[in-house]
Amino acid sequence: MPTPAISQDELKAQVGRAALAHVVPGEIVGVGTGSTVNKFIEALAGLRDQIKGAVSSSEASTERLKALGIPVFDSNAVEELAVYIDGADEIDGRGHMVKGGGAALTREKIVAAQSRRFVCIADASKRVAVLGRFPLPVEVIPMAARRVARQFAAQGGTARLRMKGDAPLVTDNGQHILDVTGLEIRDPLAFESEVNQWPGVVTVGVFAHQKAHVCLLATPEGVQTLTF
Ligand code: A5P
Repeated sequence: MPTPAISQDELKAQVGRAALAHVVPGEIVGVGTGSTVNKFIEALAGLRDQIKGAVSSSEASTERLKALGIPVFDSNAVEELAVYIDGADEIDGRGHMVKGGGAALTREKIVAAQSRRFVCIADASKRVAVLGRFPLPVEVIPMAARRVARQFAAQGGTARLRMKGDAPLVTDNGQHILDVTGLEIRDPLAFESEVNQWPGVVTVGVFAHQKAHVCLLATPEGVQTLTF
């Protein structure tokens, strides 16, 4: 009898549970955003009494953490975190990522920057050779959106304003998101540094300076650990 296929939802649940091994008892854990992280948050509820709490990268994750009785700390109240656990839209062979499919990229980068280790949790569909297949999220100040879109066009990209219904999506920080297709990001460090200089860009969704140290990758054969 053929083994039944594992659903993507189950793969996310597996990797969410596997991430518990990276949580440091007695400490505050950095928590990301997205459907994979939601599975991690569900699993983290079981360790509630062994951690001090969490610093969260979005209003959505904060709400989930609080609903499960996990205290949420302001990032300004915490000097340094031992570990940050978050998903990714793409991850390459060096731990560079594209993130922001859930529009939380700026806060994700802030919490990643205050953490000693970034543990990325993802299913195998997120693994790429070169970043750029997933539309690259870029958080922008609304008055700069057109100009930034033109700068991407000059590099061969096509930027679209992310919408929610009939209106532009507004992030937790009150800004807008451009999703950029048509890019091949061969030098993620240089690309991130350059785009972050463009006036009006709040954060580009390339995480090369704040790359993953470890990736727990869910595959039908089990969870693989990649270290970078
Ligand atoms: C949120 O803004 C993103 O960076 C997420 O980490 C990323 O989109 C992965 O989300 P999923 O786990 O839902 O695929």
